[in-house]
Amino acid sequence: MKQLKDKTAIITGAGKGIGRATAIDLAKEGVNLGLLARSEEELKMLCAELTETYGIQAIYATADIADREQVEKAADFLIGQLGKIDILINNAGMAQFGTFLEMDPNIWERIIQVNLMGTYYVTRKILPEILKQKEGSVINVASTAGEKGFATGSAYAASKFAVMGLTESLMQEVRKQNVRVTAITPSTVNTALAVNSGLKIGDEDRMMQPEDVSELILSILHLSPRVFIKTAGIWTTNPQ
Ligand SMILES: NC(=O)c1ccc[n+]([C@@H]2O[C@H](COP(=O)([O-])OP(=O)(O)OC[C@H]3O[C@@H](n4cnc5c(N)ncnc54)[C@H](OP(=O)(O)O)[C@@H]3O)[C@@H](O)[C@H]2O)c1
Repeated sequence: MKQLKDKTAIITGAGKGIGRATAIDLAKEGVNLGLLARSEEELKMLCAELTETYGIQAIYATADIADREQVEKAADFLIGQLGKIDILINNAGMAQFGTFLEMDPNIWERIIQVNLMGTYYVTRKILPEILKQKEGSVINVASTAGEKGFATGSAYAASKFAVMGLTESLMQEVRKQNVRVTAITPSTVNTALAVNSGLKIGDEDRMMQPEDVSELILSILHLSPRVFIKTAGIWTTNPQ
């Protein structure tokens, strides 16, 4: 199993949900962290907790990933403080659902801007740092909606299908430089995003939790550098 101690990872959307669970699990393994989201208080508290509990370097920067200038400024700060980057987890994202004709075009555009363009802006800044290490990983958190469309999901599915296309194309570009690029495609996870966007959670105890997705992310990172997972779906076994 590939050890992760002393690696350095950037995680977007690390303040809550899947990103937060992944930050905690990586910190347990001795990975130094650069965390990014918009809400400063959540990131500040998480960094303090991770530094104190696991003795790692955990720092944060706030940015709306849909804004290229904010991303560039935040990434420059994180890169400067951390010194090197081995892993990027593109996790920040939003979901809102509505029929094609009824959804406000501003919301439709915002979903594309955050989920697709945000992933692009962050990766464009961080990838050169990973390439400098001559080995590393990028994991993009897509969705089952990136593989199958559904009624009321035109914007979200379009954004996540696009993330799948970005992921596969980038993977083909950088694998020869020992950088592994993976898409993960969870079905519904019990997080604020799912609850606030009206996804069916049902029996919470049976539902997939953020920690389940983070366990998948860690298992992908633990693989020998000579192999990688191209796409990984993770589903709740028996939702009610
Ligand atoms: N939950 C599900 O059912 C599910 C299923 C499949 C895939 N996913 C994907 O998993 C990823 C994480 O979702 P989650 O369920 O963990 O959601 P969550 O609990 O709502 O967390 C989302 C995180 O992303 C950050 N974020 C959102 N918009 C942002 C922006 N414009 N700029 C910077 N940060 C932003 C949020 O912080 P701030 O609000 O402070 O910025 C938060 O830290 C998303 O890409 C989502 O599409 C979720």
